[in-house]
Amino acid sequence: MKLIYFLVAFLALASSIASAYDPSPLQDFCVALNDTRNAVFVNGKFCKDPKLVVAEDFFKHVDPGNVTNKLGSKVTPVSVNELPGLNTLGISLARIDFGAKGLNPPHTHPRGTEILIVIEGTLLVGFVTSNQNNNTNQLFTKVLNKGDVFVFPIGLIHFQFNIGYGNAVAIAALSSQNAGVITIANAVFGSTPPISPQVLTKAFQVDKNVINYLEKQFWYDNN
Ligand SMILES: *[C@@H]1O[C@H](CO)[C@@H](O)[C@H](O)[C@H]1NC(C)=O
Ligand SMILES: *[C@@H]1O[C@H](CO)[C@@H](O)[C@H](O)[C@H]1NC(C)=O
Ligand SMILES: *[C@@H]1O[C@H](CO)[C@@H](O)[C@H](O)[C@H]1NC(C)=O
Repeated sequence: MKLIYFLVAFLALASSIASAYDPSPLQDFCVALNDTRNAVFVNGKFCKDPKLVVAEDFFKHVDPGNVTNKLGSKVTPVSVNELPGLNTLGISLARIDFGAKGLNPPHTHPRGTEILIVIEGTLLVGFVTSNQNNNTNQLFTKVLNKGDVFVFPIGLIHFQFNIGYGNAVAIAALSSQNAGVITIANAVFGSTPPISPQVLTKAFQVDKNVINYLEKQFWYDNN
């Protein structure tokens, strides 16, 4: 018995040491490929020859987003896709503009924690935990004013809602060069191709007309 405990402990230790040398994934998946001619990227992007790098590779200008849309909000990401110099640096940001009563709808960043500062206006923000405590998804919520800062832990569903009378602006920093966004309603009801209504009818415990209605909606993507 003792030997088994030792082996289990040894294997656990070995795997934790091994994982410490692996980079965290920077995309949804990375199917291993033997032939590099068919490779697109390997956990990030290919690197530019340092001799060819210029200041512009580290620069990006961001204008206020257009909030004239169904959500009344616009996220302007500055990830490695917009700013190539961010590659391998583990950080990115987004500017979020809100019109009156604008909403950045419930979403998650699968690869990044987010820290947000309100530059202008008043936001109701919140995130929901995983089911770690007795299968309870706990909501943590707070009203933020100009200058207030709030953290949304990696992977958790969160939202920001402009409850003020004017516009609002926030800047979000993310702990990944490519944190990714899964907007819950868009992913569940607006996936391509659609998820079978049978699945969603059972999952949400509603009539299939409700699901058909939801799947027919145009799920605006504010990112
Ligand atoms: C990759 O190459 C190795 C060694 O030649 C081979 O054993 C393996 O089957 C290959 N894998 C794929 C997916 O082609
Ligand atoms: C903002 O978006 C709306 C709707 O697409 C469009 O009509 C309007 O011209 C845009 N405003 C600016 C300043 O681009
Ligand atoms: C979980 O439920 C048990 C039994 O009802 C209770 O004793 C315990 O305090 C709960 N734990 C949490 C973290 O809520």
